[in-house]
Amino acid sequence: DPEDKLTVNFVNRNGETLTTTAKDGESLLEVVIRHRLNIDGFGACEGTLACSTCHLIFDQQVFEKLNPVADEEMDMLDLAFGLRKTSRLGCQVCMRKDLDGLTVRVPVEVTDARIKSEVGKQS
Ligand code: FES
Repeated sequence: DPEDKLTVNFVNRNGETLTTTAKDGESLLEVVIRHRLNIDGFGACEGTLACSTCHLIFDQQVFEKLNPVADEEMDMLDLAFGLRKTSRLGCQVCMRKDLDGLTVRVPVEVTDARIKSEVGKQS
């Protein structure tokens, strides 16, 4: 697919880096789903801003370039486990050319705000 030409690196919970491709305008959640990346429990609400399982941690210089956080995203981020200053929800961040090659980290533990229990916790 000639549109599929941006690169995204996801650092998974076990420290492994999953390098994949993305299209301009595609959300990071869509990237994970389309490539069936093995990130346990990620995107449980399918991008409807109801779960916070798509929590990702960005590098500061990338974070500053992202689209602003909407109130709805902020409310859901507040419920995310292990929130950082550079945390965003992957379903609300879309790829752009100037984000090409970015690296995002998957938090070690996430909470699904819908069921108030931890998912994706690995031993
Ligand atoms: Fe549920 Fe992003 S996928 S809030």
